[in-house]
Amino acid sequence: MKDVIEQLASGRQLHIDRLVEWLRIPSISTDPQRNGDVRDAGEWIQQELSRSGFAARLDETDGHPVCFASWTGAEGAPTVLIYGHYDVQPPEPLELWRHGAFEPTIEDGNLIARGATDDKGQVLALVRGICGVLQQRGSLPVNIKFLIEGEEEIGSPNLAPYIEAHKEELTADVAVISDCSQFAPGIPAITVALKGLVYLEIFVQGPNRDLHSGSFGGAVENPANVLTRILGSLRDEAGRITIPGFYENVRDLTPEERADFASLPFDEDGFRDDLEVPQVHGEAGWTTLERKGARPTLDINGLLSGWTGEGAKTVLPAHASAKLSMRLVPDQDPDVIDTLVSDHLRSLCPPSCTIEVRSHHGAQPVLVERDSHWLDAAARAVEKGFGKAPVYIREGGSIPVVSDLKRILGIDTILLGLGLPDDNAHSPNEKFHLPDYQRGIETAAWFLDEISS
Ligand code: BES
Ligand code: MN
Ligand code: MN
Repeated sequence: MKDVIEQLASGRQLHIDRLVEWLRIPSISTDPQRNGDVRDAGEWIQQELSRSGFAARLDETDGHPVCFASWTGAEGAPTVLIYGHYDVQPPEPLELWRHGAFEPTIEDGNLIARGATDDKGQVLALVRGICGVLQQRGSLPVNIKFLIEGEEEIGSPNLAPYIEAHKEELTADVAVISDCSQFAPGIPAITVALKGLVYLEIFVQGPNRDLHSGSFGGAVENPANVLTRILGSLRDEAGRITIPGFYENVRDLTPEERADFASLPFDEDGFRDDLEVPQVHGEAGWTTLERKGARPTLDINGLLSGWTGEGAKTVLPAHASAKLSMRLVPDQDPDVIDTLVSDHLRSLCPPSCTIEVRSHHGAQPVLVERDSHWLDAAARAVEKGFGKAPVYIREGGSIPVVSDLKRILGIDTILLGLGLPDDNAHSPNEKFHLPDYQRGIETAAWFLDEISS
């Protein structure tokens, strides 16, 4: 292995150059104007893989294409399915970026660009590490399949049908995903839980047109007042969600799990100071790490009504809307919660207005089986690649495919985060720490070694 690792280390600049090229493609999956760019980013990774000795293709779906690649020359050896996504979030607000979001720039050892950590940098680390082994050895010790999609950031609407349709081809023993974070700089981690997601949009309709708030106020219900009253009632003073039945299937943390959280070296003051908030906040009775990783949450993600331009306009708006999401934990079911919450919201609308609730994408919560030789192999690989044994953490983010892989293919997933908690995923100046990129590349190579031994 030493020769392979040395070779990967000497290829450092080339690994960076390849990532920079991929990051220049603005593959924003939610923006139909960018459909061509999204496809280009899919083609880019397909070519990268086929150049390195994988049988790679770009498959059409009803949305953005999926890149599938495989190398299955290790007869009798296990098969690892590696998932990642080549689409990115929109870069706005643009004025907060120090450089163009799609003009990758290196600053203090960080590569700054939209998609740097989420997820192009992390996917490419696995790709370069594995392809490096293949190129030097002429073979791999295990079979590898890549599934790299272009719709993760919009909820992977076409991926489950794709997996169903390619079930045989995607057969594997275990999946690996690098699309999350280490615990802190110098503390690598394996993620053992992800939250689920329910995302709703609420429309409250009042009068058929905007009205003079003096002439009509008091006589006609204001949908903005109604909507904010409804939204305000969804959490109580103690930060608990008030929707009847919401907590019904929440699995309690065991004393061991709470001890695991407590044993992590979390710098709460640093966390607070970085965000410049006066204090942290959340459901009473739980620590910050427990709230982030293991308690369900409810957040308003967008609010729209009335006059939001410069200056004042005395208007009674015709409608008000909000985007609202809930992060779920085991064993909450997104479909059940969606119905429960939507019905509750409708029941809160007074007869003086009408309400409509629409559902966007969702995701199932994930809890990884800790007692697994795959996980142990991954931990040994991280220890070799990062020079330090990983801690086990729970993340608040969601990755819809994980439950689909379990349901359709029957396989577990190892979540091997290479990013850092302050990488600014979805935010301006998203970054990926280049030494972590290199460690990720080497960890991928070690992983092949560890699972085949
Ligand atoms: N990479 C993230 C998921 C993630 C973030 C995992 C932080 C662990 C920690 C992924 O690209 C993402 O942003 N997922 C979306 C969900 C999707 C349904 C839009 C999310 O979590 O909001
Ligand atoms: Mn991601
Ligand atoms: Mn994301």
